[in-house]
Amino acid sequence: MPNIAVVGTQWGDEGKGKIVDLLAHHFQIIARFQGGHNAGHTVVHDGKTHFLHLIPSGMVRGNLLCVIGNGVVVDPEALLGEIERLRQAGIDVGDNLKISERCQVIFPYHGARDSVSEDAAADKARIGTTRRGIGPTYEGKAARTGIRMVDLLESDLLRELVERNVDRNNRIMACLYPGQAAVLDAKKVFEDYRVMAGKLERYICDTSLYLHQRMVAGESVLFEGAQGTQLDVDHGTFPFVTSSNTVAAGLGSGCGVGPTRINGVLGVIKAYSTRVGAGPFPTEQDNEEGALIRERGGEFGTTTGRPRRCGWFDVVVGRYAVRVNGLDALAVTMLDVLDEFEEIPVCTGYQYKGKLIKEFPSSRQAQAEAEPVWERLPGWKCRTRGISSYAEMPQAARDYLDFIAENLECQVVLASTGPERDSTARLPGTVLDSWLGGN
Ligand code: GDP
Ligand code: IMO
Ligand code: MG
Repeated sequence: MPNIAVVGTQWGDEGKGKIVDLLAHHFQIIARFQGGHNAGHTVVHDGKTHFLHLIPSGMVRGNLLCVIGNGVVVDPEALLGEIERLRQAGIDVGDNLKISERCQVIFPYHGARDSVSEDAAADKARIGTTRRGIGPTYEGKAARTGIRMVDLLESDLLRELVERNVDRNNRIMACLYPGQAAVLDAKKVFEDYRVMAGKLERYICDTSLYLHQRMVAGESVLFEGAQGTQLDVDHGTFPFVTSSNTVAAGLGSGCGVGPTRINGVLGVIKAYSTRVGAGPFPTEQDNEEGALIRERGGEFGTTTGRPRRCGWFDVVVGRYAVRVNGLDALAVTMLDVLDEFEEIPVCTGYQYKGKLIKEFPSSRQAQAEAEPVWERLPGWKCRTRGISSYAEMPQAARDYLDFIAENLECQVVLASTGPERDSTARLPGTVLDSWLGGN
């Protein structure tokens, strides 16, 4: 069986959790490779809704191995909380979780710096982060001051690293935000993290080696992306991005796995667009239509509860995602959300400074000022919610999927018609058949 990556193609929240959960039983291992508990992946099954933030969505299946790769930034308190919530929901993480020794650890000063820098930023510069400390933790990695999971397990070293980092951060905060930030006590931070390290120790190992050994033994891995292409620190709408490489290539460095190991990449794409947080969003509908999409799609952040900004499908964004991720296939989600629209506008290009643009621009100004060129596709005006067979889909919905495949030059393999695992139609004769062996 091959190793496949599932990644977000837009601004996150495309339904990656649902698609990963749907496909998970074809694999032995599910691995996250970037991001942290800024992610919120929803899995709905058997009348229960699970929200996964750090633990791969495959955990809901119960018997799969889940790996948190080195590219993930881990908040031990959030992770222990998530393990406990899963336990209360009847899912025992047990021996099914492995966390890389090399993960960077989120400390209280990271969250504090994230929040205070957002509060202090001018309106135009505020990113609208999840305030989980993600950016400052990746900063610490690049600056080579960060503390890794493996360091948590060596008490004397940990004490020294915590003292050094708390002192450094207290001084940075006092200097940049005088009087606004609490001064942290290194002793308390050390004690809290020492105790949490004790609870997490059983899960911590060399996950690159582990993945290698399991793949050599013939097992296959599904790599679960977090966030989406437009939030990638290199390829997204910088600076309104997260601080990791969300694109498929990020899994190599984020899991310690070579690119030759990956056999396919599946992009998850909404039938429309959403964004949570600030930044360019060319097809945004800050109007009644956007509000209707929000209401029908339940578009409120899984992690922060913020209302998501909503808009129409953007072909330019989609084509860009196909290119920078090397997508082989697409899973189109939230088709049912469009059930009531007479016509569905889609953006096929942008007008900027009197020119037609067909490729997503890098310039901040162009991203912010690009005016969509619209094409209006017929709606289907009937219920697709819950449909699990492609043959039963209304013709106009099939045409909509064809439009996406043709314009993005990438085949659609799945169409999702509701949050539940079963509300998914598999398209006939696609690459998914060879990935999953026709099952
Ligand atoms: P992720 O971050 O990409 O995993 O996506 P989220 O879980 O944050 O957001 C997707 C939301 O849409 C969740 O509430 C899902 O339960 C829900 N969802 C996923 N697929 C569908 C679908 O096809 N139709 C509808 N109506 N909801 C869906
Ligand atoms: P999933 O995996 C949607 C957004 C934040 C903000 C920007 C930076 O559920 O798709 P950060 O806290 O990462 O520094 O915030 O990124 N963001 C997400 N938006 N879905 C997510 O994850 C996100 N994770 C971060 O809203 O705009
Ligand atoms: Mg989400």
